[in-house]
Amino acid sequence: MNVLVTGGCGFIGSNLVRYLLRERPDWKVVNLDRLTYAGNLENLAGLEDDPRHVFVHGDVCDRAGLDRVLAGHAIDAVLHLAAESHVDRSIQGPEVFVTTNVLGTQHLLEACRERGVRRFVQVSTDEVYGSLGPSGAFTEESPLQPSSPYSASKTGADLLALAYHHTFGLDVVVTRCSNNYGRYQFPEKLIPRMVVNALRGEPLPVYGDGQHVRDWLHVEDHCQGLVLALEKGRAGQVYNLGGGAERRNLDLVKGILAELGKPESLIQFVTDRLGHDRRYAIDPAKSRRELGWAPTHTFEQGLGDTVRWYVEHPEWWERVLSGAYRNTVTLTPRGRGA
Ligand code: NAD
Ligand code: TYD
Repeated sequence: MNVLVTGGCGFIGSNLVRYLLRERPDWKVVNLDRLTYAGNLENLAGLEDDPRHVFVHGDVCDRAGLDRVLAGHAIDAVLHLAAESHVDRSIQGPEVFVTTNVLGTQHLLEACRERGVRRFVQVSTDEVYGSLGPSGAFTEESPLQPSSPYSASKTGADLLALAYHHTFGLDVVVTRCSNNYGRYQFPEKLIPRMVVNALRGEPLPVYGDGQHVRDWLHVEDHCQGLVLALEKGRAGQVYNLGGGAERRNLDLVKGILAELGKPESLIQFVTDRLGHDRRYAIDPAKSRRELGWAPTHTFEQGLGDTVRWYVEHPEWWERVLSGAYRNTVTLTPRGRGA
């Protein structure tokens, strides 16, 4: 099996590349990534000499480049993760979100259709459903009501993928997951930002009243769900993947400070995010039933392990904060464009 992972140098993508090499040792993993600010070759440290992983420096908006990769590596299946992924950035500058998330996905779908790729997994998000009130959870049938430019662009991509199945018969499966956490997450997202700021003795900015709720999913559990969706999902279907761990932001931040032995006085309430979704929660019953998927990490254990990883790897996040990570040029002896 030759699998193309797009965005494999980002947070979830790099965890997925490692997961695939470990759990599906006879697969070849081709990793196409543009290396935007969120792409970091150092997330894949240690894989330099592994012939089962090939890094290709490329853009999902470059149709000719996609054709070369699909044909050159005889790709059987695609796990599409490449995206602009941060809500705050989408409020500052929405355009690149439409370019990468919507147009990039369309280029990739089209290339896969022409090349006869056998399965396309679109990695979508629970944010396509919008915001919940205090009770209830998103099912795959919940209405799509995205609120931010990020989630609107991901909704466009998600619906395009389903349309390529409906219209052209491309074998598409869509996954919609909740907030991931784990190692190698860029420190602009809540958990790594709070850990890194606390370690540096800097304020921890909590948006608004801090009562917003997210449903946290360990990235390894997510990777398992993606592989099961690839192997067992029914074409044209959507699968929700959630961690079953709803936490209020403020409680989570206090938990991180307690884990690190740092004072709560570091918490600083700041102006709320524009259009901030109040609550997300996933009903994962369909994924349990059809894919046999269930998360294995408890949140307390997973958060503790994650916090420790950042404590033990200051060289990783210090190079991200300083920008030095962007000078890492090659991953494999074959280098870029292999
Ligand atoms: P990330 O921002 O850490 O990584 C994104 C990767 O995509 C980077 O390596 C970047 O270089 C690459 N990329 C960006 N534009 C590209 C382009 N035009 N061509 C090729 N590569 C490009 O994101 P992440 O948190 O790992 O998220 C991965 C996927 O999962 C995204 O599609 C995101 O929408 C989705 N998702 C993430 C979460 C989460 O909690 N992180 C939750 C739900 C869904
Ligand atoms: P984030 O990690 O950006 O993920 P998303 O917006 O996709 O859910 O944010 C998670 C939650 O944490 C969200 O409610 C916004 C909040 N937040 C803060 O309070 N402070 C911060 O510095 C960040 C980055 C997020």
